Amino acid sequence: MKHHIESLARKSLSFISPYVPGKPAEVLFRERKLEKIIKLASNENPCGTSPMAIKAIKKCLGSLNRYPEGSAYLLREKLASILKLQVDQIIIGSGSSEIISMAMQAFCEEHDQVIFPSPSFIIYKILAHAFSLEPVIVQLNDDMTYNLEKICEKITKKTKMIILCNPNNPTGSYIKKSQVSEFMKSVPDNILILCDEAYVEYAQDSEFGTALPWIERKNVIVTRTFSKIYGLAGLRIGYGISSKDVISIMEKIRPPFNTTSVAQQAALAALDDHQFVAKSVENNNRGKVYLKKNLEKLGFQVFPSEANFLFCCVKEDSNWLCQELEKRGIIIRPMSGFGIKGNFVRITIGKPSENRFLIKKLEEILQGGKNEKVRC
Ligand SMILES: Cc1ncc(COP(=O)(O)O)c(C=O)c1O
Repeated sequence: MKHHIESLARKSLSFISPYVPGKPAEVLFRERKLEKIIKLASNENPCGTSPMAIKAIKKCLGSLNRYPEGSAYLLREKLASILKLQVDQIIIGSGSSEIISMAMQAFCEEHDQVIFPSPSFIIYKILAHAFSLEPVIVQLNDDMTYNLEKICEKITKKTKMIILCNPNNPTGSYIKKSQVSEFMKSVPDNILILCDEAYVEYAQDSEFGTALPWIERKNVIVTRTFSKIYGLAGLRIGYGISSKDVISIMEKIRPPFNTTSVAQQAALAALDDHQFVAKSVENNNRGKVYLKKNLEKLGFQVFPSEANFLFCCVKEDSNWLCQELEKRGIIIRPMSGFGIKGNFVRITIGKPSENRFLIKKLEEILQGGKNEKVRC
């Protein structure tokens, strides 16, 4: 008789529910046959993809019969020159999620503790369980800012890695330079500190603190991506930055040919597309101001954000609100899936027309429909 498959799976997988991404527009279209669908659920770039990247993609379609350059040397060289680092301080992954996965795999033994914040990017927890590690979750403050002292208090002899997400997904909150310095000084040297900076290019506050200045002084790994500001989420390419020693260990487990030649060429070209980056940042800054003002008029509590999304507490039932928006062709993200209690939603900042459409539909829903008041 066939063996019950769950008993054959790794025990630690019983702690994991598969990652649920934002609903794809195609799925909503199939479900509801709406003419217009707007996706503001996955923090994608509403301005599209860097035109210079698209040009580069078209150019390399004639050589798809060839394997890619496995280590993405040219891309690493370019990133190194931009960041004023050495080529062997950069590793390229199939999205920055793969870099996070490789870092855990390369450094953490079974049952090591990994400390990370909550609410934050769900993948940290999934990966920690996938590698049979012990997740140690530290709640953000009530105003969604980081409590780095609380994180330090959780360090034990079993701690191998601490993950910080800056700016943090889904809250948009960020860690200041001074906080980063203090934190780095208080973490023991035998612990790896992974700083996920997927949204770094959107951060505007001059106090924002990247962990890059610390990569030589501590065992710090910074992860960044081409999925957000460069609009290349569909091609899956991101990178890790650290000391040569850390990167050489991660290179041991990087799957061969983990990024495609098309993604590498697109990323190389995107790095030169300063115009597209500036346009994307500008769109985000303006959209943030517009949405904050208008969402607050509708009774939303909007948290300060240094990223391309807004974390909001709503008075209504958040799942109901998201469903009402879906009926009208707008996908945002209810936060119940992030294990957050209360009525929270995350809204990706869209193009001006998308932001206006969202506000119009919210007005329609909140003035006309069920308006059940629930406390956050
Ligand atoms: C905080 C954070 N880190 C990493 C990623 C993954 O990005 P990538 O597409 O580079 O794997 C995301 C994607 O949403 C994210 O929000």
